[in-house]
Amino acid sequence: MILEGKFATLRPLELWDGRELAKYLNREELKEYTSLVFPINTFLEEEWIKRNAITHNNIVFAIESNGVLIGTAGLSSIDWTSRSAEYGIAIYESTFWNKGIGTEVTMLILKYAFEYLNLNRVSLRVFENNPRAFHVYEKCGFIQEGRERQGRYYRGHYWDVIHMSILADEYWRNKSES
Ligand SMILES: CC(C)(COP(=O)(O)OP(=O)(O)OC[C@H]1O[C@@H](n2cnc3c(N)ncnc32)[C@H](O)[C@@H]1OP(=O)(O)O)[C@@H](O)C(=O)NCCC(=O)NCCS
Repeated sequence: MILEGKFATLRPLELWDGRELAKYLNREELKEYTSLVFPINTFLEEEWIKRNAITHNNIVFAIESNGVLIGTAGLSSIDWTSRSAEYGIAIYESTFWNKGIGTEVTMLILKYAFEYLNLNRVSLRVFENNPRAFHVYEKCGFIQEGRERQGRYYRGHYWDVIHMSILADEYWRNKSES
């Protein structure tokens, strides 16, 4: 399955993406917005791709822009009985932020979740110190449903973790109104 947008393409992650991903995942600029505090090497990343990228419960795509790998996005903890999943995205290099890619990719994953997989609910967690991501998720139809107080520690500060979700009927309603 490949999902094509105007700015980005979502394609299956391949083992050889591991080297590039490992390089990005150790960078400080990502640490602020993700939970990745342990060092990651190519071996660990390749193992993660082998075991977790495409499974019964996880579907993680590579994000490519102009043929270059710039991040990952996908669904995890897919529950086929409740028809729910958790969404995650990271564009690994800040030069690609604020260009509309994250919004497009989020809408592509929602399309995949609701129109292809027939899920009923997609949820996510976003740190309070990430207003850019929060804005993108709201723009794509996610609604705030809760808050874990001080659920996240980063360099001397505790931040709340915001829980958001979108349901299938909300997705279809938004789509028919746009
Ligand atoms: C979060 C992320 C996926 C968003 O993708 P992106 O391509 O940068 O987002 P877009 O360009 O589509 O949209 C950014 C929007 O946020 C807005 N924005 C930027 N900085 C902002 C800020 N500090 N506060 C509020 N809104 C902000 C932009 O104006 C734009 O909104 P608009 O289109 O309504 O003008 C991407 O920045 C990223 O991967 N960041 C690092 C990892 C991360 O944070 N992952 C998410 C973890 S929950």
